[in-house]
Amino acid sequence: MMNETGKATRQVPSHVAIIMDGNGRWAQARGLDRSQGHVEGVNTVRRITEVASEMGVKYLTLYAFSMENWNRPKDEVDALMHLIGIAIERETPDLIKNNVRLTMIGDVERMPSEALDRLRGCIARTSHCTGLNLNLALSYSARWEIADAARRIAYDALAGKIDAAEINEATVSSYLTTASMPDPDLLIRTGGDLRISNFLLWQIAYAEIYVTPTYWPDFTKDAFREALAQFGKRERRFGLTGEQIRAI
Ligand code: IPE
Ligand code: IPE
Ligand code: MG
Repeated sequence: MMNETGKATRQVPSHVAIIMDGNGRWAQARGLDRSQGHVEGVNTVRRITEVASEMGVKYLTLYAFSMENWNRPKDEVDALMHLIGIAIERETPDLIKNNVRLTMIGDVERMPSEALDRLRGCIARTSHCTGLNLNLALSYSARWEIADAARRIAYDALAGKIDAAEINEATVSSYLTTASMPDPDLLIRTGGDLRISNFLLWQIAYAEIYVTPTYWPDFTKDAFREALAQFGKRERRFGLTGEQIRAI
């Protein structure tokens, strides 16, 4: 991309999605309880929200808890839910101050009311914010989301609200939990594992993937800047040839 002066500018992704992995291993490597890793992980969330905001990212979707994570030991799940509630309560004033709007996606009704009420309170109190949209994926599963969308599309077609013959990709996108957001441009996974773990399967069709071995509690502002720098060097071809893309 060129600016008015003809100088190359580095493209900032408008939507960054992150699989925040490695809290448990970070703690275990220090002889601590896995929950301590989650506590430390909250500090990283604050840091990365700040730097994403500073860099002009518009949407930051953080995978905080998957639907499959409900099957972890009860102690760990309880500690995590409690921590989410505490962290949201504590961080809300700073989110407002920094003009960050909170949203969430996932089957959140499964969450305990202590955490859910606080999340809903924060969503209401930040709804006027126009800066970064911090979108938390909680009790989230991409397959659940797609099945849910398919069911609602079928009901709406049966009710005559939409024409089944006209259902296309845009229709499906509009029934997903991310309907109001652009697809992620960049998907980051910390903790080194080369997998998607049921995250945003539809939306990441053309996302650039960046995996770092760094555990989430150790993920710094500079590490985030480096991921964005790497993104800036990628050639996104969307199925075209390099020559075609460079001619655009
Ligand atoms: C990611 O860290 C946070 C959640 C899944 C809630 P993990 O708890 O999965 O950490 P590892 O992968 O076991 O190290
Ligand atoms: C993915 O991490 C989910 C979150 C980061 C919330 P997991 O630790 O649950 O993923 P797997 O089990 O290693 O695939
Ligand atoms: Mg993990």
